[in-house]
Amino acid sequence: KKILLMNGPNLNMLGIREPGVYGNDTLEDLEAGFSEYARAQGCEVECFQSNHEGDLVDKIHAAHGACDGIVYNPGAHTHYSYALRDALGSVSTPCVEVHISDVSTREAFRHISVIAPACVAQVKGRGFAGYNDALDILLEGVTERLG
Ligand code: DQA
Repeated sequence: KKILLMNGPNLNMLGIREPGVYGNDTLEDLEAGFSEYARAQGCEVECFQSNHEGDLVDKIHAAHGACDGIVYNPGAHTHYSYALRDALGSVSTPCVEVHISDVSTREAFRHISVIAPACVAQVKGRGFAGYNDALDILLEGVTERLG
């Protein structure tokens, strides 16, 4: 199976950014760890990070018919980007939303996900391990969207 690992804005700053919330490991560490976990299960992984909404929309469109699943941390886009939610709704590729931190126990604006209805599951508060959990959910074959 071909899996797209996507990370949105500011996740290139992992390791530097609020280490008390997101830890000391970098995006490179995250991508390497996820790729190793996925490869051990026979998956091929493409990693993509961007701080730009339109580039993320384009990447989601390109996954249609080309990828079997998307593991996606939309960062702050989670809380307001209807463009990214509609992009996920425009493709047949199932997506699991991931948050490193537990967004439900943080500021009120983080409690809302406009992305979740277009995803098949949401994983939060599990650190980098949450990305592996998201892959497990995709490999179980879950395709029904939350919305
Ligand atoms: C995040 C949570 C978001 O609220 C925040 O804007 C991020 C990271 C997480 O992984 O916990 O950039 O998605």
